[in-house]
Amino acid sequence: MNVLVTGGSSGLGRTLAAELVKRGARVIVACRTKARRDSTAFFLRNKTGSFNVRTMFMDLTSLDSVFDFCEELINTEDKIDAIVNNAAILCPQNKTSDDLDMMLGVNYIGHFLLTSLLSEKLLKQGSSSSPSRIVNVVCGSFRSGHILNKEELEGKSDGGYNMRNVYRSSKLALHLMTKHLAHKYVEDGVVAYSVDPGYVNTGLYKHLEGPFGKFNQTCAKALYRTTEEGIQTILYCLSSKDVLKQSGYLFKDCRVCDVRSSEWTDNNIKDLWDRTSELILSKGIKLELPPDEDEEADRADNSEVADSEQ
Ligand SMILES: NC(=O)c1ccc[n+]([C@@H]2O[C@H](COP(=O)([O-])OP(=O)(O)OC[C@H]3O[C@@H](n4cnc5c(N)ncnc54)[C@H](OP(=O)(O)O)[C@@H]3O)[C@@H](O)[C@H]2O)c1
Repeated sequence: MNVLVTGGSSGLGRTLAAELVKRGARVIVACRTKARRDSTAFFLRNKTGSFNVRTMFMDLTSLDSVFDFCEELINTEDKIDAIVNNAAILCPQNKTSDDLDMMLGVNYIGHFLLTSLLSEKLLKQGSSSSPSRIVNVVCGSFRSGHILNKEELEGKSDGGYNMRNVYRSSKLALHLMTKHLAHKYVEDGVVAYSVDPGYVNTGLYKHLEGPFGKFNQTCAKALYRTTEEGIQTILYCLSSKDVLKQSGYLFKDCRVCDVRSSEWTDNNIKDLWDRTSELILSKGIKLELPPDEDEEADRADNSEVADSEQ
């Protein structure tokens, strides 16, 4: 099994990558900087004693970087069986190099582009009995996020910026992406899940200030889950046969959580999907990769053989 993990250089993603390698998977880890790529390779190979891990550079704050990463991945990996969209940040207001809101760009829009570009590869690999899997790591508080309007999605909204609200809405957008993918690929051998890992002791909350920030910094070690505990539901959604009929759902503690909102209509979900696609296209980035060079060559060879046989 070949699994791509974003944000595998620390926290939940790094523990997940190590565990998947130990279980015999080939793991590709996308890392924010080239230095993180190299240190993560060193860490994971040391930790697992295996070379069945590949680390690559991909900065989710740049749509160009995501595109280049996917192009390289498609041209160098035979197959991708699963993607874990795990990377995220919780940070004060900032902008990506594409002039998007930083949290929306990293947590949602970058992963939207990544998943769109790799969907062909997933579709090719998956079947109804053994589908390719997409796992989007969200958080419990996305339920109190709201669907981003046009200005918010483009990072242009005026007024006060509430870091935790934007984080929640970025995670709601990711969950609605899960639902859309499940609907889109219902017949096609690709399944999608959202996973809430619960509160986990990682570096995620380092930018939080005020009482909640202080609470996180002082109590996280004692009260929160370890990363080993936090990855269990992700592993479950990547491997269990029991979840195959539950594409599009949120999972927590290896169980489906039946979360709903009157706001999450099919129309609103599709509308957010379309607006996100348009936004990415407006930045000059395509949502499809150029055809695979080897496959094109194979196709040309086959048609020459067919012509000569006629
Ligand atoms: N911790 C919790 O309590 C909790 C609760 C609910 C949900 N979650 C979710 O769990 C997932 C993992 O978070 P975590 O707790 O493990 O946090 P973390 O330790 O801060 O890990 C976040 C990962 O994302 C990567 N990342 C950040 N910006 C990036 C960028 N521009 N491009 C590529 N990668 C980038 C980080 O890379 P660097 O190592 O280079 O910084 C890191 O590997 C997130 O989706 C988070 O929302 C966590």
